[in-house]
Amino acid sequence: MLRTVNVLGFAALVYVVAITFVSVGQAQQETNGGGKGGWTLPPNAADEKNPLTADAATLAAGKDVFHKKCERCHGPGGLGDGKDADPDAQQDMDLTVARRAARNPDGVVFYKVMNGRKKPKMPAQKGELSAQQIWQVVTYVQTLRRK
Ligand code: HEC
Repeated sequence: MLRTVNVLGFAALVYVVAITFVSVGQAQQETNGGGKGGWTLPPNAADEKNPLTADAATLAAGKDVFHKKCERCHGPGGLGDGKDADPDAQQDMDLTVARRAARNPDGVVFYKVMNGRKKPKMPAQKGELSAQQIWQVVTYVQTLRRK
């Protein structure tokens, strides 16, 4: 009798642990934008404030960073048509699509650029660009989006 209770108790514990892992996994996947190789974003990324003002100097600096680090994939106008673009991911690489604005506030774009992703690949810029340069390019790419 006691033995049966123990077995049942153990089974219940396994069940609870399994459920916990499954739901943590799902929450994680959501912040990553889904799927393996997705984005690595801190949970509060959307609340992160852009410290820069979109003035002429910031936009010029951001455009320069874009030209050097982003254009080969995202294309000169951000349409996702650069020479190194992943042809299967062109829709997801199009930075001009208006309906994608809501899920790409400045803070989210900052971490997408900083951390990159594996598949389809976008190189991480941490270690390559300063936080200041990342905010500059974030400010610039946000102007490419159609209203
Ligand atoms: C090697 C090619 C490559 C380079 C270089 C690159 N990207 Fe990307 N980028 C991608 C790919 C591929 C995606 C689409 C990933 C997905 O969601 O499937 C993407 C997606 C994005 C997105 C998200 C778009 C959305 O609506 O979800 C942003 C923002 C972005 N890139 C900005 C940049 C910026 C800014 C730079 C330069 C600092 C840059 N990328 C450099 C390949 C690249």
